[in-house]
Amino acid sequence: NWTPHNFVEMAVSELIEKLKDDKVLLGLSGGVDSSVAAMLLHKAIGENLYCIFVDNGLLRKNEYEEVLHSYKDMGLNVRGVDAKEKFYDALAGISDPEEKRKAIGRIFIDVFDEAAHQVKDVKWLAQGTIYPDVIESISVNGPSATIKSHHNVGGLPDFMKLKVVEPLRALFKDEVRLVGKDMDVPQEILGRHPFPGPGLAIRILGDITSEKVRILQEVDHIFISNLKSSGEYDNVWQAGAILLPVQSVGVMGDERTYENAVALRAVTSTDGMTADWCHLPYTLLGKISNEIINRVKGINRVVYDISSKPPATIEWE
Ligand code: XMP
Repeated sequence: NWTPHNFVEMAVSELIEKLKDDKVLLGLSGGVDSSVAAMLLHKAIGENLYCIFVDNGLLRKNEYEEVLHSYKDMGLNVRGVDAKEKFYDALAGISDPEEKRKAIGRIFIDVFDEAAHQVKDVKWLAQGTIYPDVIESISVNGPSATIKSHHNVGGLPDFMKLKVVEPLRALFKDEVRLVGKDMDVPQEILGRHPFPGPGLAIRILGDITSEKVRILQEVDHIFISNLKSSGEYDNVWQAGAILLPVQSVGVMGDERTYENAVALRAVTSTDGMTADWCHLPYTLLGKISNEIINRVKGINRVVYDISSKPPATIEWE
């Protein structure tokens, strides 16, 4: 019978047999799947697992530092790569959503390939692919998806020529969480909302600058912190803020302001294919709106997205 504990024992012994003394490379995203895959491999081959965690400058506020810290606490052999400026340079002036995704995919591959070359004699590429990714063929979550959907034309980068190992291929998401729990992966990682690979880039409508990213990180941080402190976080499947390319008039004291609007989005869903907007309490929405407008310079209006999917999508881009 299937239990998370049995799965871990079986998977670990299979990985030991398959990988022997080989070195394995894995790109961590901060998400559930890549983290649980890493922990399984770590149990099996220890220091022969080389993890890479890229800061693309499009993560949530403080996320890079916090997640890197958790990974180190978990005992993972992980290297953080700060590539923020490379991503911002590549994104400069780009407003089209698909062009943003392509630019991000391309830079991710370059950065990851360079980091991969620093692991001598690496034989395998591990991925956190789970069963729904396998059946959908194009997955939408995590770095593995970025890799698959953005093959560059000039031939494959070297890391893509590695043999692939995918220890979670047979599991559904809820099983991945149980397996992670059995291995003591921290709840702050297991309970995390899904977050798109291109990150805040697709939540800044129009072109991206580091200043817009900073503003959106502040807004998002206030939103998510309030969801957590009010106990609503676990009732929500995914939440985030969107920086709109819209300015509107406001008043601040005696002054007239003309500043940006942000939209808040929170949905319930089981797999992201369909979604309902969350009926968050008005008092909570009011508190969040006040905090955002009072604390984040440059924002004078907050709106709440009450569209469901379909026909709206979860992200705005
Ligand atoms: P939509 O907006 O299509 O999103 O309703 C469904 C789910 O997919 C995520 N998403 C992405 N994830 N790369 C990703 O890794 C992407 O380009 C991307 N676009 C959307 C979205 O956050 C939601 O969970």
